[in-house]
Amino acid sequence: MTTAQPRTDLDVQPTPLALLLLGREADPASERGVDCPGDLPSPSDPDLVARARAAKEKLGDKVFVLGHHYQRDEVIQFADVTGDSFKLARDAAARPEAEYIVFCGVHFMAESADILTSDEQKVVLPDLAAGCSMADMATAEQVAECWDVLSEAGVADQVVPVAYMNSSADIKAFTGKHGGTICTSSNAKRALEWAFEQGQDPSTTKILFLPDQHLGRNTAVRDLGMSLEDCVVYNPHKPNGGLTAEQLRDARIILWRGHCSVHGRFSLESVEDVRARVPGVNVLVHPECKHEVVAAADLVGSTEYIIKTLEAAPRGSKWAIGTELNLVRRLANRFAEEDKEIVFLDRTVCFCSTMNRIDLPHLVWTLESLAEGTLVNRIEVDKETEDFAKLALERMLALP
Ligand code: 13P
Ligand code: SF4
Repeated sequence: MTTAQPRTDLDVQPTPLALLLLGREADPASERGVDCPGDLPSPSDPDLVARARAAKEKLGDKVFVLGHHYQRDEVIQFADVTGDSFKLARDAAARPEAEYIVFCGVHFMAESADILTSDEQKVVLPDLAAGCSMADMATAEQVAECWDVLSEAGVADQVVPVAYMNSSADIKAFTGKHGGTICTSSNAKRALEWAFEQGQDPSTTKILFLPDQHLGRNTAVRDLGMSLEDCVVYNPHKPNGGLTAEQLRDARIILWRGHCSVHGRFSLESVEDVRARVPGVNVLVHPECKHEVVAAADLVGSTEYIIKTLEAAPRGSKWAIGTELNLVRRLANRFAEEDKEIVFLDRTVCFCSTMNRIDLPHLVWTLESLAEGTLVNRIEVDKETEDFAKLALERMLALP
């Protein structure tokens, strides 16, 4: 149950501060930040690159560094592999000989890596303040309360949960326990199709999609041909999710009211504006963007899809990309010499502030600590949560 009382005038509970400022305090119940123990090297230390290289060399095969595409250039240069959430989950699982998995990404990704690797392997997140505000939008208590609401409406046994990778281990465990699967932005269509096949009667089966309403809606409407009316939005800050039992009974997809604040900045105006500014531009966006943005775009896909599309694009083509800025800048630089013009979809800067928390000083501190035999910032999911979350993740990895 949520504890805060609803405000009577709005009947809506305020959203708690998504991320503690600068991540300097601890809140073990969420993805919020904690202080970094020990002394971080100064960002102005001219030897940081050499220090990271030396520590990594000293660790040799004992360490495997994963880098999400949204990481800074200064960090990504040390990644043994880069990828989207799906690829990195698979890569972590396929590396049983590495004692340390250093995850340059955010907390839920490191949790997933811990779940998919052996008990002997230690997953490390260089800055524990690297959480994800979207993952924080669905807590275990809120989701349990939602399930009670679905039960009271008489629909819970028709519901299959599908949780986006961008969720805490608790939410993944809930999903595993209730017969559901995890998905990422590269396999959401297959995950929804799978989920509809799980119910006794696919025509009455419903999906509870957590926590990103936009990925859920975009996949249902764009990829599965469903209508917007097939979807309802469950607001965890309202009594009964703000929905009547009838609305829940009529819905095919129950979308959790969560979103990514980075992708939420792109708007229909951004698309129209870039089309006017850059004649002939192709608009390519991530499915975490709002539905109207996705509907107005030419192409939609995960970070890995965005990269592959640009690799295959003809010389001289023009692209406006709607995703995190570190990646877009890197792609713009990489493809400039192939005469591919790549611009950021919005006029304003749009970094993921928590992805950006992993910087070179944190990476150096992590690698040097490990090289000296001191384990820091380990991400470890408890056994019961891990077992159920693994069930859901393995269902995802087995999707056709
Ligand atoms: P993908 O890399 O899976 O496309 O996800 C994007 C994202 O928002 C990760 O937080
Ligand atoms: Fe979370 Fe959005 Fe950042 Fe991805 S880009 S980690 S979804 S806040």
